[in-house]
Amino acid sequence: GEPRLIDSLGRSHHSLRISVTDRCNIRCFYCMPAENVQFLPKTEILSFEEIHRLVSLLAGVGIRNLRLTGGEPLVRKDLPDLVRLLARVPGIEDIALTTNGMLLQPQAMELRAAGLRRVNISLDTLHEATFEKISRRQGLDRVIAGIDAATAAGFDEVRLNALAIRGVVEQEAVSLVEFASARQLTMRFIEFMPLDADRRWDSQQVLSGDELLRMLEQHFGPAKPLGRQTAAQPASDYGFAGGQRVGLIRPVTAPFCGACDRLRLTAEGGLRNCLFSQQQWSLREPLRCGGSDQEILRLVRSCVAAKQPGHLIDQPGFEQPDRAMYQIGG
Ligand code: GTP
Ligand code: 5AD
Ligand code: SF4
Repeated sequence: GEPRLIDSLGRSHHSLRISVTDRCNIRCFYCMPAENVQFLPKTEILSFEEIHRLVSLLAGVGIRNLRLTGGEPLVRKDLPDLVRLLARVPGIEDIALTTNGMLLQPQAMELRAAGLRRVNISLDTLHEATFEKISRRQGLDRVIAGIDAATAAGFDEVRLNALAIRGVVEQEAVSLVEFASARQLTMRFIEFMPLDADRRWDSQQVLSGDELLRMLEQHFGPAKPLGRQTAAQPASDYGFAGGQRVGLIRPVTAPFCGACDRLRLTAEGGLRNCLFSQQQWSLREPLRCGGSDQEILRLVRSCVAAKQPGHLIDQPGFEQPDRAMYQIGG
């Protein structure tokens, strides 16, 4: 068949992260601006049929793992229909979702039945007042209800994500790990990256994975490194004697770009080879203007060929992309 998607450094691409909308029902400061957000007009957003065609094409050149992201993916109407469509594509082995959890409770069962296998839910705090400070909205109780519905729905894996931001995460880390562990879930901590819409990121705000691990070890005892589930995964896992499981995602202090197997599709159909890429390849144009499969794959291959070795966060010459996390998909 067709050759696979291999970049100039020999990295083979097997994962596609699909942003299904740039809209969100909350406004986390590490991702979105507080007010006056300019969302994409609905006509510019790929339809489920368009996403399905792209995924079918990409599955033919080695993509086998999909992750649906946003904005907040559950804000997109009828998301289970998309999951059903994608689950039937030959070659697709895994479909996952990254969500803020607020709209998950009523849909968890249907998403599971549609073929969604894994869910990652953001949980930065267990206190409503802190939740409101971070997300500038109310609703921690709905997030918790979403987490409980996800654990009850029988997904293959449910994991919780917290941003590791200095001044915020220190007060929360131990209780977040205890909360996750009471539900037998992995609690993951992600180093804050310069992808916030307000461009307030600075390296002083990054609480490193190593610092966090030391804090957790003071409370839970020595952590046993469990490594990565697969080489390409961002998180390294750790286990504690009490059964707690923690994952650390360290893009800033320990970049994992050498094993990156990810491409990203934005809600308006732009293909990006990196979270930090400065350009994207519009697949919407050929999709909507009668482009052939070969034309689309040519664009995909140009995108892969242009992939840089990695990001340069916190190094001279680093430039924050013109898009924030909610416009890329995380
Ligand atoms: P798996 O591939 O199943 O492990 O999913 P994931 O852990 O990548 O999914 P999730 O969306 O929960 O990712 C959590 C966070 O890790 C993202 O929001 C990013 O902050 C970070 N992350 C994920 N992929 C990348 C990546 O390719 N590069 C960088 N720098 N960070 C990433
Ligand atoms: N740095 C790191 N991770 C981020 N996320 C959002 N913004 C950032 C950032 N600036 C994460 C969220 C969630 C996923 C959608 O992206 O915590 O896990
Ligand atoms: Fe891949 Fe870019 Fe993330 Fe590095 S920063 S792991 S190259 S997406």
